[in-house]
Amino acid sequence: MNLLFVCLGNICRSPAAEGVMIDLLVKEGLEGKVTVDSAGTSAFHVGELPDRRMREHGQRRGLNLSSRSRQFVYDDFTDFNYIIVMDNSNYKNVLSLDEKNQYSHKVIKMAELCPSHNEIEVPDPYYGGDAGFEKVLDMVTEGCDNLLSKIKDEI
Ligand code: 4NP
Repeated sequence: MNLLFVCLGNICRSPAAEGVMIDLLVKEGLEGKVTVDSAGTSAFHVGELPDRRMREHGQRRGLNLSSRSRQFVYDDFTDFNYIIVMDNSNYKNVLSLDEKNQYSHKVIKMAELCPSHNEIEVPDPYYGGDAGFEKVLDMVTEGCDNLLSKIKDEI
């Protein structure tokens, strides 16, 4: 089972989701059975570590966010079982690469996995303050829990 989290820059939301999911898998003893990665629809920050603010907020929850940004590529559609996007523009940008409409069943919106937050997207925290980073972590924590429950019988 291979999971890919996707946002715009791959320096805030998707590395946070990647870190939260890895932490959850370790806690559940499933880290050898599921691989987790993240990517951005843009190439703005390729090669960079997660945003310092995201790393600091993650650190406070015991998460070491240290992945390097990469851009989403076409092969990700076949390399991953599920592609979890953070907002509607990520959804559109990812599916725009699926010209033959073969992979849309793999693409899931993170906000649909965390219904208690009543949001249609995981809001981009990049231009905001601390609360935005905390909200991302809260949302993806619920979302990863629900995603793991959803896929448990496929692992
Ligand atoms: P992310 O946040 O998509 O959650 O990684 C952003 C990071 C960088 C930019 C926008 C959003 N940017 O415009 O550089």
